Amino acid sequence: MSRPVVVVGSVNLDRSLYVEHLPAPGETVLAHDRHVCVGGKGANQGVQAATSGARVIFIGAVGRDEHAKFARRALAEAGVTAVLEECDEPTGQASITVDDAGENCIVVDSGANAAISEAAAVDALREVSHEGPLVLVCQGESPAAIVDAVAHFSVQGGHRFVLNLAPVIDVNVATLRTSDPLIVNESEAQSLLARFEVPGAASLTLALHAALGVPVVVTRGAQGADVVERDGEFMHVPAVTLTGSVVDSTGAGDALVGGTAAALSAGQVLVDAVQAGVGAAASVLGRRGASPHQHAPTGRGEATR
Ligand code: RIB
Repeated sequence: MSRPVVVVGSVNLDRSLYVEHLPAPGETVLAHDRHVCVGGKGANQGVQAATSGARVIFIGAVGRDEHAKFARRALAEAGVTAVLEECDEPTGQASITVDDAGENCIVVDSGANAAISEAAAVDALREVSHEGPLVLVCQGESPAAIVDAVAHFSVQGGHRFVLNLAPVIDVNVATLRTSDPLIVNESEAQSLLARFEVPGAASLTLALHAALGVPVVVTRGAQGADVVERDGEFMHVPAVTLTGSVVDSTGAGDALVGGTAAALSAGQVLVDAVQAGVGAAASVLGRRGASPHQHAPTGRGEATR
């Protein structure tokens, strides 16, 4: 029987502007389109895991504001059960710029995501863990203490801990060593490796595996993903050939993580799960925004199209 996927992570309101090219420092460019939807790496991963067929519970924090209502609605529409702590901080927001090649720049205002309390997160985990072993998923948009607490909870309860350290934050080494797998992109892998001394590994994935001794996935965009299993076996998962052009790469990495987590929860081995994740990532590249659930407040200045 498949395990529930429990994502402990961020949820944001994403405002994306579409431009011909990303502005250089000091440059002003004019947008030719806009899009507003619910995002946040945690929420995106939860939504994708549900889309890929998993039963998903999302644990996070929102403000006492309109954006929180949109987040709740979007998660519910995606079939994700949301356990959201209400904080005094506003719901997280992301300001995203996407160029005509689909590349993006993202600035996140964490808001409530940074204010989530460890006690609330762990209480919520205790509630849902009655159902048996879980696949627990965290990202680097949560405070390091929360990620460390989820890893600790995972070890104690015999759950599977999937860590997408995006962005790289200063979690405990014990947390990194609990990951099964650790999923990072190439620049995150490089910045994480700066914490360790690994002589002469043939790839970033092998170097992280040598440093941590856990299964590692390094995502490589159009090159697919590299996987190193716990026993050190290296495998490359090629990217899926796209049928259309890339409209917006925002959330593609999250789709990979969510798709992988869903496949792991259904009992697939890591390399097959990553193959499913790579397919999920390809499936979102032709749409605008990080999630299919487009929401906007009714107030002025928040129109969607
Ligand atoms: O990975 C994409 C996500 O990063 C966006 O949805 C944005 O909210 C930021 O968290």
